[in-house]
Amino acid sequence: MQARLRAAPRSANVRPLASPGTMPSAPATTEPAVRLERATVAFGAGAGAARYVAVEGADLAVGANEFVAIVGPTGCGKSTLLNVVAGLLKPAAGAAFVQGARVEGVSAPCGYLFQQDALMPWKTARDNVAVALEPRGVPRGEALQRAQAWLTKVGLAAFGDRYPHQLSGGQRKRVALAQMLIRDPKILLMDEPFGPLDAQTRALMGDLLLDLWSADRKAVLFVTHDLEEAIALADRVVVMSAGPAARIVAQHTIDLPRPREINEIRLDPKFHALQRAIWNDLREEVLKTYQAQAGGPA
Ligand SMILES: Nc1ncnc2c1ncn2[C@@H]1O[C@H](COP(=O)(O)OP(=O)(O)OP(=O)(O)O)[C@@H](O)[C@H]1O
Ligand SMILES: [Mg+2]
Repeated sequence: MQARLRAAPRSANVRPLASPGTMPSAPATTEPAVRLERATVAFGAGAGAARYVAVEGADLAVGANEFVAIVGPTGCGKSTLLNVVAGLLKPAAGAAFVQGARVEGVSAPCGYLFQQDALMPWKTARDNVAVALEPRGVPRGEALQRAQAWLTKVGLAAFGDRYPHQLSGGQRKRVALAQMLIRDPKILLMDEPFGPLDAQTRALMGDLLLDLWSADRKAVLFVTHDLEEAIALADRVVVMSAGPAARIVAQHTIDLPRPREINEIRLDPKFHALQRAIWNDLREEVLKTYQAQAGGPA
C-alpha cells in the first residue's frame, strides 16, 4: 500500500505566520495578505498594437491564512492575475496590495510556482533548491543543508544528486515546491502547479501541499483548471468569466472539514453539492470560450 506522504516537523526556518512571538515588528493588522482593487489588465497598448483587455475590474482579497483557488476557462486571465500580485505585471487601472502595501515592483513576500517547469537542467535537485537562498547571501554549505532538509520534507531525501531529467514529472514538481518553500515566503502563488501530472500523482501532490500548508497556513492563491482539485484544497473558490475583459463572477466558500485527504474528501456528499454549484457558474464561461475559439458568438 502506498503510504501517504507526511510533512516532516517544521524546521527552524519556517515560522508560523500567526505566532506573535516570531514577528515582533509586525503591527497587528486585519489587512488581507493579498488584495486586488478594481484591477484591470491590458496588453498591447504600445504604438500600432491593438489593446486587449484581459481582465477588468477584478476585486479579490485573500486572508493571511487563507487558501484561495481560482478557476476559469483557458485564456481568461488567471495567470495574468497572479502576475499582477507578484508584481510582474502592472495593472492598467486599479491596484494590487500585498500585506497592505501597494505592489510597485516584484512582491518580496510572495513565492511563485510557475505554470511551466522552471528547474535548471544543469543543476542537481539539491542545487536547484539551494539556489533559492542565493539572493539572501546564505553560505553555500548552509544552503545545501537546508535544501536537503526541504527535499526530505517533500519525500525526496535520496534524490538530491539527481538532475531534473533523471526525475519523474511528480518528483520535479516536488523539487519546485521545495525551491519555493525554502525561502519561507508569506504568500504562495501557484499557477496550475500540478497541471501535467496524472490524476493519482496530482492527488498525492495535493495531499503533500496540504500537509506542508497546515504547518503554518500561509496565504495561498492557487490557479487550477481542475475544479475538483480546487474544492479539495481551498477554503474559497473564485470563478472567473471568459475573456476578453474577464471578471470575477462568483466566489464559493468551501466549508469542508480539515485536515483533508484528497481522495477521501471527494467522496463527501457536501463536496458533490459544491462541485455542482460551482460548475453551474463555470459551465457557461467555459462554453463561451469554446464558442469564441471556434469562431462563434462570444
Ligand atoms: N504578454 C501578453 N501579451 C498579449 N496578450 C497576453 C499576454 N499575456 C497574456 N495575454 C492574453 O491575456 C489573456 C489571459 O492570459 P492568461 O495567460 O492570464 O490566461 P489563463 O487564464 O492563465 O489561461 P490558461 O488556463 O490557458 O493558462 C489571454 O487571452 C492571453 O492571450
Ligand atoms: Mg495560465
